[in-house]
Amino acid sequence: MTGAPKDKPSGPSPAQSSHKPEGKMWGGRFERGPDEIFYEFQRSFKFDRRLLPYEVAVDRAWAKALAGVEILTAGEALETLAALDQIAERAASDAAWLEASEAEDVHHFVELALVEKLGELGQKLHTGRSRNELVATEFRLFIKDASGEMRAGVAGLIAAMLEQAEKCFGVPMPGATHLQPAQPILFSHFLLGHVEGLFGHLDRLAAAAASADACPMGSGALAGCAFPVNREAIARELGFSRATPNSVHAVSQRDFALDYLYALALLATSLSRLAEDFILFATPEFGFIALPDEYSTGSSLMPQKKNPDAWELIRGKTGRITAALFSLLTTLKGLPTGYQRDLQEDKEPVFAAHDQALAMVGVAGGAVAATQINVARLREAASGPALLATEAADYLVRRGVPFRQAHEIVGKIVREAERRGESWTALPLAKLKTFSPLFEDDLRAALTVEASLAARSVPGGTAPNRVRAALADYRARLKTLREKGRAEAAATLEAAS
Ligand code: ARG
Repeated sequence: MTGAPKDKPSGPSPAQSSHKPEGKMWGGRFERGPDEIFYEFQRSFKFDRRLLPYEVAVDRAWAKALAGVEILTAGEALETLAALDQIAERAASDAAWLEASEAEDVHHFVELALVEKLGELGQKLHTGRSRNELVATEFRLFIKDASGEMRAGVAGLIAAMLEQAEKCFGVPMPGATHLQPAQPILFSHFLLGHVEGLFGHLDRLAAAAASADACPMGSGALAGCAFPVNREAIARELGFSRATPNSVHAVSQRDFALDYLYALALLATSLSRLAEDFILFATPEFGFIALPDEYSTGSSLMPQKKNPDAWELIRGKTGRITAALFSLLTTLKGLPTGYQRDLQEDKEPVFAAHDQALAMVGVAGGAVAATQINVARLREAASGPALLATEAADYLVRRGVPFRQAHEIVGKIVREAERRGESWTALPLAKLKTFSPLFEDDLRAALTVEASLAARSVPGGTAPNRVRAALADYRARLKTLREKGRAEAAATLEAAS
């Protein structure tokens, strides 16, 4: 039922092919119906039917508001509410009913169904309101729920990361900058670095929900409603914390959707970096982790292959999420004030980005949980002498040498060892003393992975005591968050019943 008509050439069609769907919402001033191809072109029901539960919720609130201003009698309002419930129920279980509909959009669909059930009474519900505010309201409701769903998904990924950080606590890894050996860090510290980022995404997702948390109903087409409906009551009934303060603004923009897409684009970008880390770590050259069978695929040609497709797809799908943000930004740029039909282009990128990002966090959480860490390989890689050069410089600093000189001295030692094809940490003390007389026997104790880790015990550092505390802190934050989420879900259920 969607897409281009199959047996008709595209391009301008003759006027006689004009299309007259039953019960249009705006037919009065037209002599002829819309061109068939154009009608299909401008329909949004094929994708905005996803908003149907929100449409029904808004319709219910509006029926009560109309009863409040005596456009509907109490009896009529009850009849309308009952019919809306039946429509929602049938729509939830009868996909063919939706498929067969020629409705322009989700608002039109419910109105058609309502009129079919209630006759003239069904024609009263659209009193004083516009699809411009309906679509803005329902899209805001979608984004509030989507943000909650996404936060639950991200919390699941955080839980998997914390689990791993706990399991491998104490295992060092070679920290790198520029992908070159830098300094040892705990593998758990590396994981918690990603966790810190994920908590930031939770905040941004919540901020996007807060940005969507105002109800446009009562804004009319743009000027406000001519019937004195109680906008605050409508907002509260729909779970918004307030009504939008300006009717023109309420129907003209989609800033809340951009906030959500931005939060998703950042989340996806982080996931793509986590994916890249895991892909690299699973190469034989790194060998830090083993790819889990459950999240890998093989090659149709090369029998030995196990490929990190889960992570590659997470990295790859990031492109379309970023694209969704750009798509909507581009659509909105330069639009004049007031509703424009261009705004209908807002929903598909948001739906698609939401679905992809949700799948990505789910798969990432599963893949993290299933990953085995190669402890022996990590320990071996973390004990490379290059990683301890800073320790030798810090050793000299503690004995009074200005850091820049200490850096120069150790750099020369490293260069000399490299020239001889030896490890600089294996040079005898006598040799080291030719670079600085301040080196003593106790240098050996400073040149260990454990000493290097323990030295970095500032808040946020990789010292085991700090990482242990950070892990406990993140666990507590996740617990609070989940309790809050459960309480909010319970409150929403209560409000709905
Ligand atoms: N389907 C439309 C959308 O998604 C609903 C609003 C239509 N309003 C209008 N004036 N044509 O934006």
